[in-house]
Amino acid sequence: MIPVRRRVVLDCDPGHDDAMAILLAAASPAIDLEAITTVAGNQTLEKVTLNARRVCTVAGIETVPIAAGCESPMRRNRIVAGAIHGDSGLDGVEWDEPTVSLDQRHAVELLVELAMRHEARPLTIVAVGPLTNVATALQREPRIAGRIDRISIMGGAIGLGNWTPSAEFNFYADPEAAEVVFASGVPITLVPLEVTHQALATERILARIAALDSAVARMSDALLRYFSETYERVFGFSAPAVHDPCAVAAIIDPTIFDARPMNVAIDVASQLSLGRTVCDVYGTTGRAPNADVGTGLQVDRFWDLMLEALATY
Ligand code: BDR
Ligand code: CA
Repeated sequence: MIPVRRRVVLDCDPGHDDAMAILLAAASPAIDLEAITTVAGNQTLEKVTLNARRVCTVAGIETVPIAAGCESPMRRNRIVAGAIHGDSGLDGVEWDEPTVSLDQRHAVELLVELAMRHEARPLTIVAVGPLTNVATALQREPRIAGRIDRISIMGGAIGLGNWTPSAEFNFYADPEAAEVVFASGVPITLVPLEVTHQALATERILARIAALDSAVARMSDALLRYFSETYERVFGFSAPAVHDPCAVAAIIDPTIFDARPMNVAIDVASQLSLGRTVCDVYGTTGRAPNADVGTGLQVDRFWDLMLEALATY
């Protein structure tokens, strides 16, 4: 029997690791990538949308609509991650003018449209930036909650954050949006820092990518080398954590993760731990689980999946 391909929208803020998520999602035989939607996060909406078009141009991804979404969080001032991804959001490559065009629909409109279509094959959303677009779509058309198969989210942490001691960047950037999504009742896979900090682009991985010797391999190598420098400078990591494709991999092959159902609540009120994902690991709150939370990753299998995808370009 031929496995049914999942209908997927990738909601992202490229971003070096977002670029890798785009390449994995567009190449996977398990995925029908129906749209790439962009949201302000790593950089402004204008910059991350341009970046999505740049990556798709180099990769020859020409038939997937790219739609721009929300330019600021639901209730807070916008933050960007220039220290990690550079002023362009995708520093480290000399980009040519992209030839892939921008879809004229708003990302939220497109998310609603795609979720409401095809009940037989419900939509899966992979969200690897702040959750503003997804939350806004859920508020604008609440019926989509019953039409979305699953949302696979890169973000949060069971323990330490990376943007503040308590909070991971995507959740800190728009905690109210995260709260809306986790209260929606849609099945959620959460891929937190505990998982993505295992997906390190070591020199051995970079050598495997370079050996592919294609335009996409050269772009990926340059992006990951830039990412290596910032991860060493900012976090003291010996290799960068390639977070976002982990949330795509969780959809392609959930068996490469260890995950546990648990209740996840988002701190939207305190100063010290704003944006923290409060994960009820031991079930002490009595609150029902609302997410499958990743706790571990089969690292070699993840990179094999990523390398197989890169080899298709
Ligand atoms: C997340 O924040 C962004 O900088 C990355 O693209 C990733 O989605 C990691 O905390
Ligand atoms: Ca991202």
